[in-house]
Amino acid sequence: MTVKLFRNAHIFTPIDKGRALKGAEQGKIAEINNGAILTNCGMIEKIGPEADVLKGLDFKSVHEERDLGGVCVVPGFVDAHTHMCFAKRREDEFGMRLAGIPYLEILKRGGGILSSVNAIKEASEEELFETTWENVMAALGKGTTSVEIKSGYGLDMELELKMLRVIARIARETPLDVCPTFMGAHAVPVEYKGRADEYIDLLINQMLPAVKEQGLAEFCDVFCEEGVFTVEQSRKLLKAAKAMGFGTRIHADEVYDLGGAALAAELQVNSAEHLLAASEDGLKAMGKAGSIAVLIPATAYSLKKPYARGRDMVDWDVPVALGTDCNPGSCFCESMPFVFGLAVMNMNMTVEEALVGSTLNAAYVINRAKKLGSLEVGKQADFLLLDGEAPTTLAYHAGSTSIIEVYKRAEYVA
Ligand code: NIG
Ligand code: FE
Repeated sequence: MTVKLFRNAHIFTPIDKGRALKGAEQGKIAEINNGAILTNCGMIEKIGPEADVLKGLDFKSVHEERDLGGVCVVPGFVDAHTHMCFAKRREDEFGMRLAGIPYLEILKRGGGILSSVNAIKEASEEELFETTWENVMAALGKGTTSVEIKSGYGLDMELELKMLRVIARIARETPLDVCPTFMGAHAVPVEYKGRADEYIDLLINQMLPAVKEQGLAEFCDVFCEEGVFTVEQSRKLLKAAKAMGFGTRIHADEVYDLGGAALAAELQVNSAEHLLAASEDGLKAMGKAGSIAVLIPATAYSLKKPYARGRDMVDWDVPVALGTDCNPGSCFCESMPFVFGLAVMNMNMTVEEALVGSTLNAAYVINRAKKLGSLEVGKQADFLLLDGEAPTTLAYHAGSTSIIEVYKRAEYVA
């Protein structure tokens, strides 16, 4: 029972309404000047203006007290979408892309995701843990206190389970909250070239049941894309996953508009990711269905593609969350502050919308909003101290993280 008191804080936080925030709601955050946070065993017991928090407080029960000097405090970032579990970088491919070879062309030639599969085969489980740990701890230093991590560089039973075991170990051995996603449908494995339907059946009949039985993933994701999995194959997989009790998400319309957003709406998936090329009708349908758009502007940056229509999505009542996509190929970036800046500058979201997108709405994407995503009574005391006057600094101070300190469950962690 450790009781901590953080005083003299300028707090900015979304307010949880029991669902992801959308439309005008996404642009509203609470601001508490001269605020305080009282925590007990890492959970927020009281938060508000300092005078209110201190009223009736028995100071003898407080084990640690800290004056934050009036700095700006925001919730820790929740990175809603990553492929951080990988064995090797693919810097050579970045060079190829700079020379004009398209991302999907590199995959078609057996590189891309398929080259990461070879690296996973060669790495021991311990080595894979070490590279993943480095990625995760780098993200923590940049303010990510919770993260989603996908499998998907194994593409067979043994290697996918190896990745998921590493992700489970990351959850046990780092301070972060970790949400594991099974993404066996990340690419068609070489052995199944031209037989994607058979691979989908393998996923449904063998791999998903094994993952379920071992309790290694909460969500199932699929790369619905030209030359990868079709809308029909994605539908079949996600329906089966849902029936087995997995949450569902989909990489939709990242490079080409195949109708992934419309499929997301039809299946009422929890979230649809990327959406760089998604159609207006598909996006509006997602808004009606309540699926969250996970936007990943660092991927547009890294692939030199037009940014997703973040501004329009908020205006069309689609709840928007943000993620890094951290992976060795399309986007080697673990920095939520960078994503925040791109969301504001290149997707024209407001600072408030970007803050909600990188905290509370992202917590809804990973189904952890009961404990994460906003600084409110009953939630974890996961927060960041920023060096500016307001969260605006995250976009304003380009190339900096603006982060002074990172706290997870009221403990200083970075
Ligand atoms: O989200 N699109 C599919 N998956 C990742 C890329 C993975 C990779 O290139 O290794 C993405 O962009
Ligand atoms: Fe991705």
